[in-house]
Amino acid sequence: MFQTDLLKGRTVLVTGGGTGLGRSMALRFAELGANLFLLGRREEPLAKTCEEIRGKKARAAYATCDVRDFAAVENAIAAAEKEFERIDTLVNNAAGNFIARTEKLSVNAFNSVVGIVLQGTFQCTLALGRKWIAAKQPGNILNIAATYAAVGSGSGFVVPSACAKAGVLAMTRSLAVEWARYRIRMNAIAPGPFPTEGAWSRLLPSKDLEERARQAHPMKRFGRHEELANLAAYLLSDLSEYINGECVVIDGGLWLRGAGEFNDFADFPDAAWDALEAARKK
Ligand code: COA
Repeated sequence: MFQTDLLKGRTVLVTGGGTGLGRSMALRFAELGANLFLLGRREEPLAKTCEEIRGKKARAAYATCDVRDFAAVENAIAAAEKEFERIDTLVNNAAGNFIARTEKLSVNAFNSVVGIVLQGTFQCTLALGRKWIAAKQPGNILNIAATYAAVGSGSGFVVPSACAKAGVLAMTRSLAVEWARYRIRMNAIAPGPFPTEGAWSRLLPSKDLEERARQAHPMKRFGRHEELANLAAYLLSDLSEYINGECVVIDGGLWLRGAGEFNDFADFPDAAWDALEAARKK
């Protein structure tokens, strides 16, 4: 579907780019011709992913950085500009999340998640956006939201993330309008369940929970990384230039299943349907 030079000439900064979905997006962007600059807290996965990207004949470099630290973000962007001259695309992917009963959370636990997700997204956006505006250079930003933010439902047991992702969505829609005059675009993706070490170990930390989640899914499967990476590539490419302030849900219909009053009937075996239909008034 995509031409291999779809992102040729682009330099994409991906936060949390060493692992999980950040890594998968980075590898896909590299296949489509982009240069990559990865940020993350741990050097080892960043270095490894950069090697993989170079194996795809693309250029890649990284900086260790905690997106909660604005000075560190500015330093990392300076390092990226030294390497690549200019960054034109930002993917705010770095996230933190875990399941917990909210009454058991410390204030620091809340602050950690909101700090990475909301403040981190803002800080990277601000640091790069200011530069783009000063240089009169267009830019593209993609944020990672969550279905519970995209549909406005929120979610129990991940309250810090629900609050932070709702903020990310508000930022996406607000800045898309405010910065359109600078030719800076901002969109978001709201992923459903995509297996990653980071998310699975904190959100579905047992085989039972994982199987339960799979069975509850309308398609009985989780997302494939390439499905999300291809959506991200489209939203960052010039093909989608008129899409601005949008949040695209990619979850195989999972949130809709929770929304429809009778959707749980999908679990009924045929015998139960036969009995129901026999008993139902014509
Ligand atoms: N349940 C309750 N509290 C938790 C927790 C859990 N599972 N995990 C961490 N915390 C608390 C800690 O106890 C600490 O609070 P305290 O200082 O009051 O004790 C606070 O959160 C910060 O933890 P710490 O490990 O110091 O923070 P960190 O900044 O190194 O880590 C997290 C940030 C907590 C978000 C960590 O889960 C993380 O690094 N996640 C990144 C990867 C990820 O979450 N991926 C999935 C994205 S969908």
